[in-house]
Amino acid sequence: MSKSEKLYARALKVMPGGISRNTILRKPHPIYAAYGQGCRVTDIQGVTRIDFANNVASLIHGHAHPAIVTAVTEQLSKGSAFTVGTEAEVVYAEHIIARNPGFEKMRFVNSGTEAVMSCIKAARAFTGRAKIAKVEGSYHGLYDYAEVSQTAGPANWGNAREPRSVPVSHGTPQGALDDVVVIPFNDPELAVSILDQHRDQLAGVLLDLLPHRIGVIPASDAFVAAIRKWTRDNGALMICDEVITFRSNYGGAQEWYGVTPDLTALGKMIGGGFPVGALAGRADVMEVMNPLSDTLLFPHYGTFSANPITMTAGRVAMELFDQGAVDDLNALADYARSSIAQAIKTADVPACVTGKGSMFRVHLKPEAPTSYRAGYASAQETLALKALLDYLFGHGFLMIETCSGTLSTPMTRAEIDQFADTLLAGLQHIKPQLG
Ligand SMILES: Cc1ncc(COP(=O)(O)O)c(C=O)c1O
Repeated sequence: MSKSEKLYARALKVMPGGISRNTILRKPHPIYAAYGQGCRVTDIQGVTRIDFANNVASLIHGHAHPAIVTAVTEQLSKGSAFTVGTEAEVVYAEHIIARNPGFEKMRFVNSGTEAVMSCIKAARAFTGRAKIAKVEGSYHGLYDYAEVSQTAGPANWGNAREPRSVPVSHGTPQGALDDVVVIPFNDPELAVSILDQHRDQLAGVLLDLLPHRIGVIPASDAFVAAIRKWTRDNGALMICDEVITFRSNYGGAQEWYGVTPDLTALGKMIGGGFPVGALAGRADVMEVMNPLSDTLLFPHYGTFSANPITMTAGRVAMELFDQGAVDDLNALADYARSSIAQAIKTADVPACVTGKGSMFRVHLKPEAPTSYRAGYASAQETLALKALLDYLFGHGFLMIETCSGTLSTPMTRAEIDQFADTLLAGLQHIKPQLG
């Protein structure tokens, strides 16, 4: 038995499926990291791979960035968590607030799930309304309301004009499903007509501007403008989930659209490699969390929220990710997307690449899908995609399981060229499966 097999056999005895998060599952067994450096990860078998997964889009500077290691090591020796505040939290909040004029006030939490949940609860507290709307197929973490219809499929998603609220976890309360209105991605007219049916009941509309699960397809200008207008006209809040997409611009993907959401959920990269989440937005909305106010509408706690390790790592990471670094990374991603498109053309297979900012996704479809339903992979595509991912893995690349990739600042054109060459060989390898 290999070291990884032995470790997995032990893991199976103590964790369901042998893992603490489904993301790392691989068959016949997961791989285990020995160490990471820059954009490479070496596993305990001694195999090194180029990392396009970056802990699911959360490592903007790759692994073990020296400045982050130094700052965190220094903070560790002073303590990692207190029942009092730290300067690190104040300094970092000032930095995040300064990145986007729409961020008037903010709070830190511990994960993206918690950030989205806190935005939803703040929106409810502010409006006094219970329902939220979300886009079919969009992933926003594990909160009951936020996960509705994330995995909806042809067997249960219902009529396109009236998407059903489909639970992800068995036993989801019917009340949670009833309080979530599902709208289609990038169809402003239909979305607005559905929202109109719940006017006066909606606390907010939750939106990811470049939703990964839907296909790393950018929201259209018309869709974003329609949601902004509808929420404003109807006393509901626009909540942007920028847990992944904050990496797209200095102040987040919302800069592409020139819109100011009422609340934004943040997470992933702003932790500098440590667990994090945050919510930021309008001061009057964030006031619902203010324990100094006469009426505290949304009491908010969290044992490890704003711990000084995360605050220190996050601040150093974000200071390094300045406007120049953002522009360089996005330019490298443009190069990656065009290299991938060229590989697809050379391989002459029905595939395409989507993405924007510092992310891309390879689809085994001839045209870029424009909606969740159009992007839904057939059984044949799913099998072929798995074969492609296995090929990339076997030839030195870690990808997100949807065949998506996120770039990190230690990457250069050399890694992109290597990836495009391997992708070309991988596409040629699976070509017979593509019919
Ligand atoms: C867009 C989006 N929102 C929220 C989350 C949840 O974040 P976390 O896994 O930190 O709870 C994720 C995680 O992948 C995400 O991609």
